Amino acid sequence: MPKKVLIAYATRSGSTAEIAQAIAEELGAGGAEVDVHLTRDVEDVGEYDAVVLGGPVIIGWHRDAMKFLGRHKRALAAKPVAYFIVSLEFCRSDTDQFQSIPIFQQPAHGEPPANPNKLRMTEKHNSPAGYLAPVLKKAPAVKPVEVAFFSGYVDYSKQDLFGWLFLKLLIGAKAGDFRDWGAIRGWAADLRAKLGLDA
Ligand SMILES: Cc1cc2nc3c(=O)[nH]c(=O)nc-3n(C[C@H](O)[C@H](O)[C@H](O)COP(=O)(O)O)c2cc1C
Repeated sequence: MPKKVLIAYATRSGSTAEIAQAIAEELGAGGAEVDVHLTRDVEDVGEYDAVVLGGPVIIGWHRDAMKFLGRHKRALAAKPVAYFIVSLEFCRSDTDQFQSIPIFQQPAHGEPPANPNKLRMTEKHNSPAGYLAPVLKKAPAVKPVEVAFFSGYVDYSKQDLFGWLFLKLLIGAKAGDFRDWGAIRGWAADLRAKLGLDA
């Protein structure tokens, strides 16, 4: 029997949906049966052997991803789980780890801190610990086999007024697609074994 894996994702403007799809293709290439769903459409995770949960940073991790974790934390604690977190900013020093969780970082995603021994406030916010602490607090018994950090995109045509103002005025974000499909697919291909999906 092929193993069944769920990729549950949240998205605001679509970039994470396409990342979820690429991950699904790589996991499926190993023979697993893969379902891809928006987090809010998933009622039960019982039928799955493994779960990959992803979402963008919208100030914090997308609230639908956080709600999914809250709803399914008991079931997820008993399965192999991986997270992927999509953002524009990411600030990691070479030695940065968080609670011994393996971290994968898309090459050239974000900037390392100016001084690793003394992080600025925004650097702390954008660090693995800054992004991950609330996620792990939400579901402490869920121990992800790995957490991947990927770049997303800025597409002003897909933003509502709040999103447009936030990106333009607060972050001053340049429009562009910063996703690295090689890194995303490479991570997903390596994830098969880590999730126990290899036949
Ligand atoms: C309202 C809003 C808030 C955001 N907050 C952050 C943030 O705090 N840090 C960051 O690095 N990126 C932030 N982003 C950028 C998104 O993470 C990025 O555009 C991502 O690709 C969006 O994913 P989606 O297309 O799946 O919604 C924000 C974007 C919006 C619209």
